[in-house]
Amino acid sequence: MEKISILRYPLSLAFFIFCFVTTAAEQISSFSLKKFETNPIFGSQVALFGDAEVVNGGYSVNVTRSSILSAGRLMYKQPIKLVEGNPRKGVSFSTYFSFSISPDNGDGIAFVLLPSGFPSQFLDGTSFGLSPGLGKLGSRVLAVEFDTSMDAKFADPNGNHVGIDIDTLVSVAVSNVTSLGLVLNGGDKLHTWIDYDASSKYLQVRLGKLGNVRPSDPLISYPIDLSEMWKEEEVFVGLSSSTGNSSQTTTVHSWSFTLRRIPNWMHSQPLDPRAHSEPSKPLTVTVVHKKKDCVIRTLTGVIFGTACGALVTLIVMALWNFFTSRPPVAPVEYPEHPVELGYEKIRIIREKATTDDKK
Ligand SMILES: *[C@@H]1O[C@H](CO)[C@@H](O)[C@H](O)[C@H]1NC(C)=O
Ligand SMILES: *[C@@H]1O[C@H](CO)[C@@H](O)[C@H](O)[C@H]1NC(C)=O
Ligand SMILES: *[C@@H]1O[C@H](CO)[C@@H](O)[C@H](O)[C@H]1NC(C)=O
Repeated sequence: MEKISILRYPLSLAFFIFCFVTTAAEQISSFSLKKFETNPIFGSQVALFGDAEVVNGGYSVNVTRSSILSAGRLMYKQPIKLVEGNPRKGVSFSTYFSFSISPDNGDGIAFVLLPSGFPSQFLDGTSFGLSPGLGKLGSRVLAVEFDTSMDAKFADPNGNHVGIDIDTLVSVAVSNVTSLGLVLNGGDKLHTWIDYDASSKYLQVRLGKLGNVRPSDPLISYPIDLSEMWKEEEVFVGLSSSTGNSSQTTTVHSWSFTLRRIPNWMHSQPLDPRAHSEPSKPLTVTVVHKKKDCVIRTLTGVIFGTACGALVTLIVMALWNFFTSRPPVAPVEYPEHPVELGYEKIRIIREKATTDDKK
């Protein structure tokens, strides 16, 4: 009995907090590209480097050409920060892209986070086009590689793996894609979700065949604090590929990226999986504008929070009225269970009132 009654107030409080929290995650910056060329926003959001070019009537970007030592990259033009705000808080991100890789043993493709000092304009034909800056900036280059060549000098397990690389292509975490029944360079369209959660400090990678839903189990879940890696430095995100000693073409069919500021004490949800599991239809680019989005979210938060607050207050007031408007009852006179429960309620409210009086 006592335990249950103690729980009652924290429960209302938890409900109240929940109401605020559900509206608390703030989207800082975001873009989504499904049809590349005819989109006026494409050029202002994404830059193409090296051999990357828009193909297929604007529906895709071939990141590499069908020749040896070809390299290309798509970069989101807006720099991001993994630490933001006052007080300083870690920032979470989610990215999704669909791609296909032709059946050759080239390097594959990598999602990269590059510090602002990285020589982005120089690409060589190996190491996902990253060699000019890799290992030269003090562990501030992060790549999630979809690697299609077995390279012994990078301790690759096979020619069909996903890995997390920090400043070197020797991965800190690696996963065998063959065990999922998938082939990275089979020419099929695949799609991937890469999520970084700033509250749990985990980087997760999921992979599937295009058309299949987002897998619940990540292929890789790696603990890493990205706010420590770059602190308040500006970072650029991109998709990078090179052919090495092959004529492998890598094609990107869609790409979206979202950055979110989330309260430190809250466990974040990954980006809405439905938004990402749709087949790639030729849609227009949606750019979520920072200011407008923030205002809408704040307004929603305030309205929702106020409604929740009002509801909780009403319930508390109703309970208060109900029990204070009748004389207290002694449990000895009414030994039945329901009355005992009523007695407990009175006692809690009175205890609360006494505590409040003392303050
Ligand atoms: C783009 O890459 C695909 C293979 O992924 C290839 O069939 C196509 O010819 C390439 N397009 C151009 C313009 O190079
Ligand atoms: C990858 O997985 C496949 C299928 O489960 C297995 O045959 C192969 O040996 C694995 N490779 C490595 C390097 O673990
Ligand atoms: C590139 O591939 C060709 C043919 O497979 C091979 O003869 C050559 O040694 C390779 N070069 C390098 C640098 O791996």
